[in-house]
Amino acid sequence: MNNSDSLFLKALNKEKLPTPPVWYMRQAGRYMPEYRKLRKNFKNFLDMCKNPEVCCELALQPIDAFNLDASILFSDILTIPDAFGLGVNFIENEGPVFAKPINTPIDVSNLTHFNPSDLDYVYKAVTNIRNSLPEDIPLIGFCGSPWTLAAYSIEGRSSRDFAKTLNFIKTNNTVSHELLSKYTDACFLYLRKQVQSGADVIQIFDSWANLLKKNELQTFSFDYIASLISALKIDPVTKNVPVILFARDPACDSKALIATGADCISLYWTMNNFDIHISKNKVALQGNLDPKILLEDKETIKRETFKLLEKYKNYPGYIFNLGHGITPDIAPDKVKYLTDIVREY
Ligand code: CP3
Repeated sequence: MNNSDSLFLKALNKEKLPTPPVWYMRQAGRYMPEYRKLRKNFKNFLDMCKNPEVCCELALQPIDAFNLDASILFSDILTIPDAFGLGVNFIENEGPVFAKPINTPIDVSNLTHFNPSDLDYVYKAVTNIRNSLPEDIPLIGFCGSPWTLAAYSIEGRSSRDFAKTLNFIKTNNTVSHELLSKYTDACFLYLRKQVQSGADVIQIFDSWANLLKKNELQTFSFDYIASLISALKIDPVTKNVPVILFARDPACDSKALIATGADCISLYWTMNNFDIHISKNKVALQGNLDPKILLEDKETIKRETFKLLEKYKNYPGYIFNLGHGITPDIAPDKVKYLTDIVREY
């Protein structure tokens, strides 16, 4: 790709820009009729993720529709637990369901050895997308954080409180850390392959950071994220690739997020107390409009968006995004409207 023309890479490099780059988490998804049309051909969502041609088409749909400044690989964070042999299926109206979740400490020692080439379908999708994108649009590769992958693997499904997981880590401390180490090593190899295949930027999703109290958050999640990022920063293949960290409503101060070594912090929509004076010139920032604002009328969308843009207008390295993913109930024309008003601000 042609790096010098990308607003997104400039912002990740902590440059102050007159107009922020725009992209959205879950920019490809059920809210788009084009997505639903292709989705109909697959019963299991993960089967669709295993088709690199379809993934390429899906990743390009929001770029074509809204002219965004960054593209994200079309895949899912649960490809790694699936490659570890846990059997991930997506069931309609239930989300992910694991055939063999982690129930006992023995299940952790019995995990199959992670072979990064089991996820060749992902790297092929990365290459296809990179080859189809305009030169100046960076491609974001991604993975789940070790903690978030462990939480799904133990719980075996989505849950509101992840009670089984929290109980497991309390009663099986050593084994839980073994699982987190295995996932950290796998994430590194997985991201390295994505970069070799064409990913320009990396995002780590710690979507279940909010389950942990401050001390646990550091030891069960952020220590592993920091070790993953430091491995990326010393490897010749990945060392110059910017890393964005999204953590959902973490029970920590701004310093703990910055200390992970991420180049950019993606702020959840409730994180309005993040200290931008501390983070200035240390990390870029991304976010954090409440996705539900997109269900409101255009006047409200404009008011709330301009409030946010005003707050970050002098911040060196600001990327416009939502505070979490676009939900299926959002109308595509609102996404178009939002993108347009950010650029005209
Ligand atoms: O444009 C994009 O961002 C698409 C790529 C993408 C998907 N999932 C596609 C997807 C990305 C980056 C993800 C990450 C992901 N997957 C996360 C982290 C982001 C976050 O939201 O916090 C998480 C937690 C998952 C796990 C996951 N995937 C769940 C719990 C579910 C079911 C619930 C839901 O939202 O539907 C999914 C399914 C999923 N992943 C869909 C898409 C488009 C919908 C699947 C469908 O069409 O049935």
